[in-house]
Amino acid sequence: MTDTAERAIAILKENDRGAYTVPTKGLYPFQWNWDSCLTALGQRHFDESRAWTEIETLFAHQWPDGMVPHIVFHVRDDGYFPGPDVWASGRPTATSGITQPAVAGFAVRRLWEAANDRTAADARARALLPKIAAWHRWFFANRDPAGEGLVAIIHPWESGRDNSIDWDETLERVPTEGIAPYSRRDTQHADPAHRPTKAQYDHYIWLVERFRSLGWDNSKLHDASPFRIVDPGFNAILLRACADLADVADALGAPEIVAENRAFAAKGLAAMESLWSEPGGQYLCRDRLTGTLIASASVGGLLSAFAAIPAPRAAALAGTIGARARACRYIVPSHDPADPRFEAKRYWRGPAWLVANYMIADGLARAGEQATAAAITRSSLELIAQSGFAEYYDPHSGEPCGGGSFTWTAAMVLEFLDRT
Ligand code: GLC
Repeated sequence: MTDTAERAIAILKENDRGAYTVPTKGLYPFQWNWDSCLTALGQRHFDESRAWTEIETLFAHQWPDGMVPHIVFHVRDDGYFPGPDVWASGRPTATSGITQPAVAGFAVRRLWEAANDRTAADARARALLPKIAAWHRWFFANRDPAGEGLVAIIHPWESGRDNSIDWDETLERVPTEGIAPYSRRDTQHADPAHRPTKAQYDHYIWLVERFRSLGWDNSKLHDASPFRIVDPGFNAILLRACADLADVADALGAPEIVAENRAFAAKGLAAMESLWSEPGGQYLCRDRLTGTLIASASVGGLLSAFAAIPAPRAAALAGTIGARARACRYIVPSHDPADPRFEAKRYWRGPAWLVANYMIADGLARAGEQATAAAITRSSLELIAQSGFAEYYDPHSGEPCGGGSFTWTAAMVLEFLDRT
């Protein structure tokens, strides 16, 4: 085992809280949805059973309507805002009231397919299948009421790309008046210049308070939200998860789950075409209220490679990433560096993130774009060698930003090492 792999495993163990893993100490002291699913992919390299537990713990906190919340507040910790009292979700174990990218179906497929303990993997996958299927069904029922095949996010945090430039215009429509006074905690753990701004936080909190005032009734939230965006990356992750879940369900003899999820994937992939921007060489977000594409070349549109998009689209995305590689030393920046709004150190407005790199590289490799996938893998491992296991990195200098000893960064490293 390499020294890098040993360091990655040490971080995963250090952040392990028994049945779930915190993203990093201090900044994020609870369980996050997509962090956990991607973390399991790292854990499988040294403890397969523990990897299954990570996902099972998340799904033990699924809502009765099928939603899987973005945060599970297993313990009390005042180090994070907004905490359980702000969300007031009314769940037995406190959770947030919004969701996150649905990567669980993909993660389960990968754990199941690569398992050494076949009997355990079959049993544990079989138990998770209906839960993940219920989450997928929840998405299309509640976030695609018109049946277009693509789902909307109703809060920037759902995308997992909290302060992306993608949301700027739409957030202007979200009021900030009347929100309860609050004090942020994130800026006590990380450099404020690397974090979202106060103005953005005000919008985030207004949305939380609005949804809370509707009792977190998901049949009302979509239409009540002034923020409704069809994010290509978010949808690609969901569509990939539908296809992967269907494959596992097929092997394990759950035909209804197969049929339903294959139908979601086929319809969604066809609808993805409406988000393609030929001049941009990538997919773009659509504002569901105005029906227009948002001119913002973020990594969300590149993450679309994770789903089974048409080969010419994957080739075009590889070309766009090649252009980004000529503008930055490290890829993949979370935003086009040529855009004047790009900020090299501010969270999702420019920095490179290893989780995004992993999903893009995986998708491109499947589409036959091996050279670009290999370039992304190389860049990711160079960042680790230079700057350690940070939350994200300045794509020009490689400087580590945000939190340190970061769980999903470590997990992705084990996956990248496995593939090289
Ligand atoms: C930030 C990221 C989000 C992640 C969370 C925990 O909010 O934007 O994607 O899930 O931190 O790591």
